[in-house]
Amino acid sequence: MKLIDTHSHIIPYVDDGAKDWDMSMGMLNAAAADGICEVVATPHVLSESDLLNDEKYVSRFTELKKRAADAGINIKLHLGSELYVQPYFDYRRPMATLANNGRYFLIEFPMSMIPGSIEARFFTLFPPKYTPIIAHPERNGTILSKPRKALELVKNGAMLQVTAGSLLGVFGSQVKAVAEQLMNSNAVHIIASDAHDLTRRTLTLRKAYDYVSKKWGAEKAELLFSINPDKVIKGESIDIGEPFEFIDDSLRMHSHSIMDRVRSMFRQKSP
Ligand SMILES: [Fe+2]
Repeated sequence: MKLIDTHSHIIPYVDDGAKDWDMSMGMLNAAAADGICEVVATPHVLSESDLLNDEKYVSRFTELKKRAADAGINIKLHLGSELYVQPYFDYRRPMATLANNGRYFLIEFPMSMIPGSIEARFFTLFPPKYTPIIAHPERNGTILSKPRKALELVKNGAMLQVTAGSLLGVFGSQVKAVAEQLMNSNAVHIIASDAHDLTRRTLTLRKAYDYVSKKWGAEKAELLFSINPDKVIKGESIDIGEPFEFIDDSLRMHSHSIMDRVRSMFRQKSP
């Protein structure tokens, strides 16, 4: 079984991921030890001009490939990007789609919310043949308070990429609960590392693969960690099926109770 990671910040000096070449190589070594055989480098692209001026990403990625080969690291590397959502991107640019597949791209919403101005016309922002893969929906404020929003995005044609660490509790119990609810709803299509470093957000997938395999079955785990990521890299069609409706609103109630607790803390601190 080939573990394939379609979301990582392993290129140094371009974003908040790897801080230097030592960290990049350390992350790749960790991936190799974990059994990962393909990795897409997806540096944050925050604007159209970042995408148009892609020389720094391309040259550092080329150097990364050379250093990995020289070190004997047996991982196939690809270049893509994590695009911060905005009204226009030139999707024909090589870095716009994952591994330059001309079809699937990784898109990031602000962490706190899905802006109303974007939500209303999200699916008009890119040409019809392009499919958005939404990065870590389980960590988005709007989806945390109303997980059904994620199902609406899937019903409209988006794919969802959950972060491996979210399922393992790295980002807290509420993020884990929403990630699991999305899994139970057949609304997760890829699991990736979103690796940024060597300690907390690592370039590893095996532990999450084992967790998913145990909880949702080996077939599901292979689909999300291997089969779908492989198809994305190759730009092949993926049948994402229909998400199941949520069984209950317990998570929403949970998020309300958290907000109530936060409000009461503020009340206690007021004079
Ligand atoms: Fe990321």
